[in-house]
Amino acid sequence: MSIEIVPLAKADIPGAVECVQKAFADDPYFRWVFNNPSQFNIQRNAASLAAHFQYGINCGCPISVAKVTRATSDQKTERDIKLSPGSIVGVSWWYSPQAACIPQTWSIWVQEWLLSFRQLLSNIRFLGRGGLNVPRYWIWKQVQQDAHDALWKDPRGYYFCNMVGVSFQARGMGVGKRLMESVMEKADREGMPCYLESSKGHPNIAIYEKMGFELIKEIECAEGGNVCKLYCMIRNPKTKS
Ligand SMILES: CC(C)(COP(=O)(O)OP(=O)(O)OC[C@H]1O[C@@H](n2cnc3c(N)ncnc32)[C@H](O)[C@@H]1OP(=O)(O)O)[C@@H](O)C(=O)NCCC(=O)NCCS
Repeated sequence: MSIEIVPLAKADIPGAVECVQKAFADDPYFRWVFNNPSQFNIQRNAASLAAHFQYGINCGCPISVAKVTRATSDQKTERDIKLSPGSIVGVSWWYSPQAACIPQTWSIWVQEWLLSFRQLLSNIRFLGRGGLNVPRYWIWKQVQQDAHDALWKDPRGYYFCNMVGVSFQARGMGVGKRLMESVMEKADREGMPCYLESSKGHPNIAIYEKMGFELIKEIECAEGGNVCKLYCMIRNPKTKS
């Protein structure tokens, strides 16, 4: 099977949404923030993810997808059959570094308003947030902001891995690493650090350590006696010897 890593295009959004929904179905943060499975509306969630991907494209964020180009011709395994050509089996979404001293541009400001507007339309269309625990969402936002304020010491900013997910059938084949490398190599060339947060300690910490990240802090989002832990990791730029 052959898989290529390409920038996310508008036409790829539905496939990317499906891939992310499946990859994060057992993610601790997802389960904490959508804590009532009977209220979870997968279509509402898909609309929200699609609006976010459109926002990411419009803002020029480095977003990549892993796309199956061809299945193996001989010896078809069960895995190959599920991964048909054209299907998206991985997604990575990064934010480019934003220096603390540079104010937000007006175009990003406009995109944020457009995203809020699309979310409002989705609220009307689906009659709510589709099971999102809104107080928990805002707790997470605040905890994340506090962590960035405390941990982001480099004034040039960080390449921030907002999400990376690989379809279950394609895991352990190097897809996640290739998705991450699409930005980590750029960061190395520019001498810039990278940052991520994972709510899954095992096996993700070991996976990211292999990519050069170091665990720097564990933070917690807590509400109603339920805690969601986040593992904050930084990768300093590698110089070729
Ligand atoms: C985390 C994730 C993106 C990794 O993607 P992947 O395609 O499975 O990882 P890769 O095959 O590229 O493996 C990268 C490295 O980690 C190692 N690795 C992979 N799975 C591992 C595991 N379960 N335990 C330890 N190491 C592992 C690989 O051997 C490889 O190391 P190498 O460079 O020395 O060969 C994927 O597991 C995933 O989507 N998980 C669910 C969603 C999620 O948790 N996303 C992260 C949120 S921050």
